[in-house]
Amino acid sequence: MRLFALTGAGVSAESGLGTFRDKKREGIWARFDPIKLATPEAFARDPAAVQAFYDARRRNLLGAAPNGAHVALADLERALTAQGGELTLVTQNIDDLHERAGSQRVIHMHGELLKARCLRCAAVSPQRDDLGEASQCPACEAVGALRPHVVWFGETPLRMEEIGAALVSADRFVAIGTSGSVYPAAGFVAEARALGIRTCEINLEPSDNAHIFDERRYGKASEAVAAWAQEIIEAL
Ligand code: OAD
Repeated sequence: MRLFALTGAGVSAESGLGTFRDKKREGIWARFDPIKLATPEAFARDPAAVQAFYDARRRNLLGAAPNGAHVALADLERALTAQGGELTLVTQNIDDLHERAGSQRVIHMHGELLKARCLRCAAVSPQRDDLGEASQCPACEAVGALRPHVVWFGETPLRMEEIGAALVSADRFVAIGTSGSVYPAAGFVAEARALGIRTCEINLEPSDNAHIFDERRYGKASEAVAAWAQEIIEAL
């Protein structure tokens, strides 16, 4: 089996990392304005505010741990690989919890919080500390030119060619913990359907795209993903 899994903020919610949107209006984008914090224009206008927002998220991430959903996906990847199949894990999340749980084939289409990118030389380097005026690029040694290696609104998601190739060669598609409101990721399920790939949604509640999926499972990711992954492993 060649499985394509798309994950979103809901997969990391039980690890204490906030989601962006929820029905109670308590998500990150209900408390913070994305136009002022997650666009290239915002960074040009007020870099300190943007850096402070990502610094706080980075510190939060360093204190977090993977949950049962991350572990179940890593276990499933191992089981599929052992049978000659594969799992391509495309995540909209900028955390590293899939990797820490043991997933090998992870594509971060919205970038990675624990990396910085140099505006002078474009080098991408590991970043665990706060970023600021004094931060120095380890490649070109420019000072104050590092930005978080994340995709902002108005920028193109990363590794889209690889993602497209994995999608067309998949025979199962699952979307986990994503509201289905941000494109291009929100459009993957329709592409999968058009290719005749069986699709499944696992989420706390129906997403904006729920009607498109062949199968829908609702519950906390730590439990719902573990149960779904176990069923797949048993059927191999
Ligand atoms: P959202 O915050 O939009 O959606 C999270 C989804 O997870 C919601 O549908 C919740 O119902 C669900 N959820 C919450 N807790 C859950 C749990 N314990 N188990 C299962 N599901 C749960 O997050 P994304 O869809 O990932 O982009 O958002 C997509 C993009 O929008 C993000 O990558 C980010 C954001 O703006 C950028 O910053 C570029």
